[in-house]
Amino acid sequence: MAKKILKTGFPEGFYWGASTSAHQVEGGNTNDWSVWERENSARLAKEALSKSYPGHVLNDYPGPLRRENYVSGASVDHYGRYEEDFNIAKSLGHNAHRFSIEWSRIEPKEGEFSEREIEHYRKVINALRARGVEPFITLWHFTNPIWIKNIGGWTNKKTAFFFVRFAEKMVKEFGDVKFWLTINEPMIYAGKSFLQGTWPPACRQAGRKEKSLLKYIRVLNNFSVAHKKAYEAVKKVNRSAQVGIAKNNIYFEGKGLNAVLANLADWWWNERFLDDIKDHQDFIGLNYYFHNRVKGFKFNQNENKKISDMGWEIYPEGIYRVLQNLAKYKKPIYITENGMAEAKDEKRADFIRSHLKWVNKAIKDSIDIRGYFYWSLLDNFEWDKGFWPRFGLLEVDHKTLERKIRESGLKYRDIILGKDKV
Ligand code: FCB
Repeated sequence: MAKKILKTGFPEGFYWGASTSAHQVEGGNTNDWSVWERENSARLAKEALSKSYPGHVLNDYPGPLRRENYVSGASVDHYGRYEEDFNIAKSLGHNAHRFSIEWSRIEPKEGEFSEREIEHYRKVINALRARGVEPFITLWHFTNPIWIKNIGGWTNKKTAFFFVRFAEKMVKEFGDVKFWLTINEPMIYAGKSFLQGTWPPACRQAGRKEKSLLKYIRVLNNFSVAHKKAYEAVKKVNRSAQVGIAKNNIYFEGKGLNAVLANLADWWWNERFLDDIKDHQDFIGLNYYFHNRVKGFKFNQNENKKISDMGWEIYPEGIYRVLQNLAKYKKPIYITENGMAEAKDEKRADFIRSHLKWVNKAIKDSIDIRGYFYWSLLDNFEWDKGFWPRFGLLEVDHKTLERKIRESGLKYRDIILGKDKV
């Protein structure tokens, strides 16, 4: 049955919120990334010397040239300040929030689950519930416990088995949570870690060359097995749980013969994994950031009329194109990430509005879209780029950890509340 459209232009019951992930915001984590950061921070700071950054970014703290930029450390202490952060999210009209549970906290040693950390996440979930904010939980967002790293991480089949056991445990503990995302962006992680070799476990200094097509394929297969088995395990514990993954999809565009290449990339990057798990998902989580134009048989020939601080092209129409392609799966879709890095906050409000305009068009075309989560609630640790990219609706002063609502956060609120139209 078609849902009533509210004055916001979005359906009744639509989830509005923002996303975070544990390692990027919590602080104080000990996992494969925290080890890798220590090994690589000096190199990353040195390499930054030869790259061009927007001037205001170089002067910001901690800018890309500083070693501490690349060490997550205390991050933005969301672990200690989640109540304050949720108060702000609530004041901005959010009725949902996506976050991840840090596996290395829950299971620091194989088979030993930490009651204290389980209690922490119970409090986090309760804090959201107390504010009328629906939790969407990601079970794996790029980080592994050290003992998983030591068995070869996701190149080892056993990791899928251990992950399923962890997933099952979480669903048993947090039985009242409805929305579960198993794995965040399998294609991105496998690609960065095993094709590009720019993310853990690859480490030049330590002589670990992980680039390998074989490992890449093996990791993707293990993600697929992990997702399907976790899906079954979760549903066994809680029939009414809704389980999906967060899938990074790209709008590949090409004309004439270039379309052949674009279609091939579309199949490999956007569809293959989703086809593979199509009988094991209740919804699709979409992370949309990229448009990729194929021209002269080359990828990434984008016009880049508007870009973020990281140089990523702003291309709102692409979200509509990828949504159109996802419609064939006939599953509800939640946009689990969409956002941009920008310290000055001059383009972000328009970024959000223009993307939502295209989401709205997709809804009018009868595509079943049920939520939108901006990435991110607050400035955080952007993996191998570190702290300098500013994605937050809330600005964080990295010296004092003080939070300040950005103008765009207020503009997003006005859209959510129907005070402003997209
Ligand atoms: C996505 C990741 C997320 C964040 C954004 C900018 O690929 O899922 O953790 O880094 O990009």
